Amino acid sequence: MTTSTNQVYPVIWHNNSVSLIDQTRLPNEYSFVEIHRSDDMALAIKTMIVRGAPAIGVAAAYGMYLGAREIETSDGETPAGGERREFLDKLEKVAELLRSTRPTAVNLFWAIGRMMKTAYESLGTVEEIKQTLLQTAQAINAEDLQTCQAIGDHGLAALPKTPEKLTILTHCNAGALATAGYGTALGVVRSAWREGRLTRVFADETRPRLQGAKLTAWECVQEGIPVTVITDNMAAHCMQRGLIHAVVVGADRIAANGDTANKIGTYSLAIATIAHNIPFFVAAPLSTIDFALTDGSQIPIEEREPTEIYQIGDTTLTPSGVEYYNPAFDVTPAKLITAIITENGAFAPSDLAKAQTKQVV
Ligand code: MRU
Repeated sequence: MTTSTNQVYPVIWHNNSVSLIDQTRLPNEYSFVEIHRSDDMALAIKTMIVRGAPAIGVAAAYGMYLGAREIETSDGETPAGGERREFLDKLEKVAELLRSTRPTAVNLFWAIGRMMKTAYESLGTVEEIKQTLLQTAQAINAEDLQTCQAIGDHGLAALPKTPEKLTILTHCNAGALATAGYGTALGVVRSAWREGRLTRVFADETRPRLQGAKLTAWECVQEGIPVTVITDNMAAHCMQRGLIHAVVVGADRIAANGDTANKIGTYSLAIATIAHNIPFFVAAPLSTIDFALTDGSQIPIEEREPTEIYQIGDTTLTPSGVEYYNPAFDVTPAKLITAIITENGAFAPSDLAKAQTKQVV
């Protein structure tokens, strides 16, 4: 068991394979799954062994390399350039498989796109392209870690100045486990804790998959950050009682106008912050912003198995004969968001375009 989330890296490249922290087993078991093949990486993303938008992107990047490594081309039998063409065609199939795993987190598509671009732009032999792909996956991993640390620091600067010691509420898990390490929303929390600006985190349990109760709570305990777990329907009550000074959440995809898709339940939290005059922050890397989408209505929302709602272990919670609706994400309108915290600074949603250039506001 690790003793500090500073040391929690959910996706690790080891010479020949990728180690993933098995997030479906936390907090009871801290174990790793070894991934050697691209189809196993696709399954790990789909089944949420690895989850959280940036972590999915990093995992998919390594998945692309594993897929590239599996590709055999008919060297020698093909005309000049034919081997390269054959390789790229087969790599497109790997990309297609990985893209089909989860629809909402745009980091998945961003990372796969960057890997494909690398492959198309790489000169040299197929073997050399494969090596370049590994280096690109490692760069995506390393950059996300740095990005999260920058988000943490910009978030710290954006937090309310009073009271001096804050209680922050967060939803789902946007921590080290959901990124290359450190976290986005929990990165802000971690930076605030480091600077003595935090008294406590309130973690929504986050039905139905319980990422807050299981993962955010686990990360806070590892770090020694005081954490109170509440069920999702207690958040507004806690705000009304004056227990919450700011809400900070992560994001799976942000449209150009600032509308933000994040874990189901985020939208109702944002509405509650308006009623109680509490700032509502979204912390996310630029790779989570989808400037191709004008607003949040265009963000695809994943629907997952109804068993997530009605089954807990061997127990069925509901009578037979009922129907289920299990959207995994919702969209918080930009007008409810105080600021979007990126690695380039904190921006009002209406100023999001400025986030693309390095400037802090
Ligand atoms: O379904 P999940 O667990 O992948 O959803 C994760 C979230 O919604 C996170 O809040 C989001 O990806 C931000 S992670 C830094």
